[in-house]
Amino acid sequence: MTKPKVYVTRLIPEEGLEMVKEFCEAKVWEGELPPPRDVLLEEVREIEGLLCLLTDKVDAELMDAAPKLKVVSNYAVGYDNIDVAEATKRGIVVGNTPGVLTDTTADLAFALLMAAARRIVEGDKFVRAGKWKTWGPKLLLGRDVHGATLGIIGLGRIGSAVAKRARGFDMRILYYDIRRREDLEEEWGIEYADLDTLLAESDFVTIHTILSPETYHLIGEREFKLMKKTAILVNAARGPIVDPKALYKALKDGEIAYAALDVTEPEPIRPDDPLLELENIIVVPHIGSASIATRTKMATMAAENLIAGLKGEMPPHCVNPEALRR
Ligand code: DGY
Repeated sequence: MTKPKVYVTRLIPEEGLEMVKEFCEAKVWEGELPPPRDVLLEEVREIEGLLCLLTDKVDAELMDAAPKLKVVSNYAVGYDNIDVAEATKRGIVVGNTPGVLTDTTADLAFALLMAAARRIVEGDKFVRAGKWKTWGPKLLLGRDVHGATLGIIGLGRIGSAVAKRARGFDMRILYYDIRRREDLEEEWGIEYADLDTLLAESDFVTIHTILSPETYHLIGEREFKLMKKTAILVNAARGPIVDPKALYKALKDGEIAYAALDVTEPEPIRPDDPLLELENIIVVPHIGSASIATRTKMATMAAENLIAGLKGEMPPHCVNPEALRR
């Protein structure tokens, strides 16, 4: 029996790759960087399945180039790199990897929050530069996390997992989401606030919403002006939710105190980006889900979604089930 042809756009953990190779005739892009656009468009010509990353743009042009495509399996929970409406129109199912990376990403968001609050990265640089001469009463003073007010933008899976962590630090927790969760408020000790109130009252603001036309540059010049001058902003969702020019100005002019980013706009951030000249920012390279266990689970999950779609079945984690019901 001939195996369905698929293209895998990067070397994902072996456990997932083996599952794909067992069921499919798989070609894998082994480069460290994503396949260039012209290569991707060429490679998809004969394929029925695509296992891709958030760095691959899957749009109408790509789907035109891949007339046999049945399934796109994204190795991520976010899928803003994929034109899902276009896929649905063409009966192409799209899979993602929700759930498995929730706690790992929440851990990273909290690590960024703590690192910014207690100036961990600055402290490390200080020691390595040979500047540590003695214990200092005013050396690298930061902000307390315990007892502070945390504002969570987006109370989905990851936002909720961050709230759980914040409870352990006795924080007051505000949240803003398009869907109010009154059912959880008392049990979780969280308070709903509109976005402006959340920004004005929070010592820490952490972003966990999806990127969509509605959330593009959700945090910009106006929003920074509403925030406390002592506030710390964490973004472990998607870079373009924060306007980078407005962020630069806010950090430079002291409108907020600090930012800690796992995601940037553009991504990767350019080494000469003005944001990187500032002392009051931490930037890590989109590693929210980057634990060995989680990335392995994401790989098997992405493989399962791909294989189900190739069989004409509903992928276990499908973002557009209506594609099969057309
Ligand atoms: C996702 O899954 O969307 C993350 O950004 C990467 O794991």
